[in-house]
Amino acid sequence: PVNLYGELRKNSMGINFSNDNELKALAEAVATKAGPWTAEPLVPGAKGNGPTVPVTNPADRRQAVGSYVSADAALVDQALANAVATQPGWDRLPAASRAAILEHAAEQLEARRAEFIALCVREAGKSLPDAIAEVREAADFLRYYATMARRLFGQPEQLPGPTGESNQLFLNGRGVFVCISPWNFPLAIFLGQVSAALAAGNSVIAKPAEQTSLIGYAAVKLLHEAGVPLDVLQYLPGDGAVVGAALTRDPRVAGVAFTGSTETAWAINRTLAARNAPIAALVAETGGQNAMIADSSALPEQIVKDVIASAFQSAGQRCSAARVLFVQEDIADKVIGMLAGAMAELKVGDPGQLSTDVGPVIDEDAKQILVEHAARMDKEAKKIAEAKLDAEVAAHGTFFAPRAYEIPALATLTREVFGPVLHIVRWKGSELAQVVEQINATGYGLTLGVHSRIDDTVEYIRSHARVGNCYVNRNQIGAVVGVQPFGGESLSGTGPKAGGPHYLLRFAGERTLTINT
Ligand code: SER
Repeated sequence: PVNLYGELRKNSMGINFSNDNELKALAEAVATKAGPWTAEPLVPGAKGNGPTVPVTNPADRRQAVGSYVSADAALVDQALANAVATQPGWDRLPAASRAAILEHAAEQLEARRAEFIALCVREAGKSLPDAIAEVREAADFLRYYATMARRLFGQPEQLPGPTGESNQLFLNGRGVFVCISPWNFPLAIFLGQVSAALAAGNSVIAKPAEQTSLIGYAAVKLLHEAGVPLDVLQYLPGDGAVVGAALTRDPRVAGVAFTGSTETAWAINRTLAARNAPIAALVAETGGQNAMIADSSALPEQIVKDVIASAFQSAGQRCSAARVLFVQEDIADKVIGMLAGAMAELKVGDPGQLSTDVGPVIDEDAKQILVEHAARMDKEAKKIAEAKLDAEVAAHGTFFAPRAYEIPALATLTREVFGPVLHIVRWKGSELAQVVEQINATGYGLTLGVHSRIDDTVEYIRSHARVGNCYVNRNQIGAVVGVQPFGGESLSGTGPKAGGPHYLLRFAGERTLTINT
């Protein structure tokens, strides 16, 4: 495909799911990669002295996956000193050299995909198809930002000016960037943030989600082996309240890329703003209260297929996932009946099996929040369906059976519920404006699904809904790098969109040079 700047770049091919031999070979290769994996802080000149944390499999807590050593406060200081010292040299490299390293890393990632897929399944509880897609997306980010770095940073832009004067606009790295990434896309978002910051000429300190420290470590090693110097990309696994907080309050930090909850983004923003230091850039991608609107012109079978994928794939642990289905009254009973039937067929269980539809949620805390939400919904809402969950499976992993509830209005939900729970609201054909108003009133603005074959309805929603990614007559998850640049507005994030043509610019400074010739 030709990207928005007209340069050739291919997205990763992944694997052919209709080819049984290819699938079997991959599943076998993945099965041979069983760890144990280890991780530690990667800071030249210092060693991690924090506690060693054991990692177990979310699908079966009896299975050890590995362990990691956490960073402590002394390491934060050393990492920042290294990052400050090395950044100007990295920034002065030609953008094409930085890009070539990222592209080399993408090739190595694909060559070693079985190991990364195994890690995503074991440490993050990703289903096999999700883990395969995760590796593809990570490779796409590496190549996309490499392409954009060449395009944007490769040479200065020549600007117009009076005769006898030359004017040029240069882009440069901002300095030290801290990348704080989430557990739900522990490889793709991790490498997306890090590769963007590196491509733009920043040195990077990467702080992974505690739950996926082994995957982050493997990703950093991959970049080091591809040619990123050890002090240009450092790794600090550990407690967000200790490591993340120490990093963001330090005046040496020029920017933060964060993906996670809106509450944590506020906290980071406040910490950065309170420093007596250069004003930092914050790229935050946060939560959502994502809806899908279906009207009576849509195909019920298609709605149900796309709701199942949007609400329950990845155990609903995507920031793009559908949380609320607005279904027009005339087709509501039919859609709800079919949805209950489809949910009865969902297979919840071992994420390493290709037949599994829904794997575990990430940990006990995440499960507890869902259990409490379901208890509230059981009292206040009408339960439509609950998928089957085998008692033996449930006994050893942090599983939560997908559920659907009918609620009177979106306002019944007071916060994002990050898991496989769908809420359904009926609406009358004359109420489209009120439906869109309810969605806008949440203050979030990430994804929106629409099922309608009426052009005016689609156009009304497009022009009135304040959301970053709107999908019509399909599911609303799985944004593709360079194809659906991803990210929301308002409480859902700052922009610019990940995997989009403007993302690198937020990681950059601008300088002009005027020469009187
Ligand atoms: N980028 C992911 C998606 O589109 C969400 O986090 O599903």
